[in-house]
Amino acid sequence: MRIILCGFGVVAQSLVKLFDSRSEDLYAKYGLKPRVVGVFDSKGSAVDVSGLSLSKLVETKKKFGTVKNYANTKNSMSGIEMLKNVEADVLIETTASNYKDAEPGMTHITTAMKKGMHVISVNKGPLALAFPSLMELATYNQVMFKFSGTVGGGTPILDYAKNSLRGERITSFAGILNGTTNYILTNMSTGLSFESALKDAQDKGYVEADESLDLDGLDAAAKLVILANWIMGMKVTLPDIDCTGIRKVTIEDIKKAEKNNSVLKLIASCDNKLVVSPKEIHKDDPLGVNGTLNAIAFTSEHSGTQTIIGKGAGGTETASSILRDLLDIRQEIAKN
Ligand SMILES: NC(=O)c1ccc[n+]([C@@H]2O[C@H](COP(=O)([O-])OP(=O)(O)OC[C@H]3O[C@@H](n4cnc5c(N)ncnc54)[C@H](OP(=O)(O)O)[C@@H]3O)[C@@H](O)[C@H]2O)c1
Repeated sequence: MRIILCGFGVVAQSLVKLFDSRSEDLYAKYGLKPRVVGVFDSKGSAVDVSGLSLSKLVETKKKFGTVKNYANTKNSMSGIEMLKNVEADVLIETTASNYKDAEPGMTHITTAMKKGMHVISVNKGPLALAFPSLMELATYNQVMFKFSGTVGGGTPILDYAKNSLRGERITSFAGILNGTTNYILTNMSTGLSFESALKDAQDKGYVEADESLDLDGLDAAAKLVILANWIMGMKVTLPDIDCTGIRKVTIEDIKKAEKNNSVLKLIASCDNKLVVSPKEIHKDDPLGVNGTLNAIAFTSEHSGTQTIIGKGAGGTETASSILRDLLDIRQEIAKN
């Protein structure tokens, strides 16, 4: 399978390492032979239609800070030139999530779809701002559009609700979809101030470069948009979410929750409304997970409430979700 990778940061590098270490088993078990024919980052690109050396790509990125130095050529193709001119089956979009205009990911995804490429995105920006129209574009161009890693990292939250609960009518769901704010709130429950808990999370590398994405609930809201569209069949985008982050949470709020035998969590919920907001969760509720964990409870008409818990981020974990998407695409192609 010929692959173009947009972005070569934590997730994309984890993915190529996974391809390298699992190549024999992926082929033997699933018939999957990933051939990365092009990669670009913010500074340049590397192309080889017969397949790039994955270890050399990682080494080049480490040494020069860009994949541009992979070959000894002065000029490298721009990302858009690559998407338009290099033949590939799948585009994997891993550039940074941007909730203002969704670029550059939006242009990568739409260009690839129009060219007939299947698309896997872990970038939430384009889905948060234009989920319904991207689905239409994929259908119009008869390509598959997969995004398992956008919610829950490697924890298969979308697959669980869509496939394991198939036939069910999910009536509502609520969950902790952002590990960073969960880590901060967990630490505040041990007595740390908001500022100290934030500093600790920053020191551990848990906070996005633009801290507002975590603290103001934007990341959780983007995931809520994806869930609402994909699981509940809604046609919503980011402005439809009533979103409050955790900046105003005080130690007094945490203590008040404790008196009620509860913990305070940033909860994204879909009931009558789509809301992201700090909320008290009873201590016995399986949703009340600590640290950087994510948890989501789906309530269905016939099978009651089920909670799925797991790590919500991480390079290797998110790469494993891309692999699941690739295997689905491989299976569909083989069927047809
Ligand atoms: N990390 C996780 O645990 C996780 C989990 C789920 C989803 N995600 C999502 O996955 C995506 C990637 O995450 P990450 O952690 O791998 O981020 P990252 O390490 O910051 O990597 C982002 C990559 O995008 C590249 N990029 C930025 N602007 C570009 C442009 N205009 N053209 C081409 N490439 C460009 C960067 O290039 P340079 O290398 O040149 O800077 C970098 O290689 C994000 O959207 C994130 O929200 C991440």
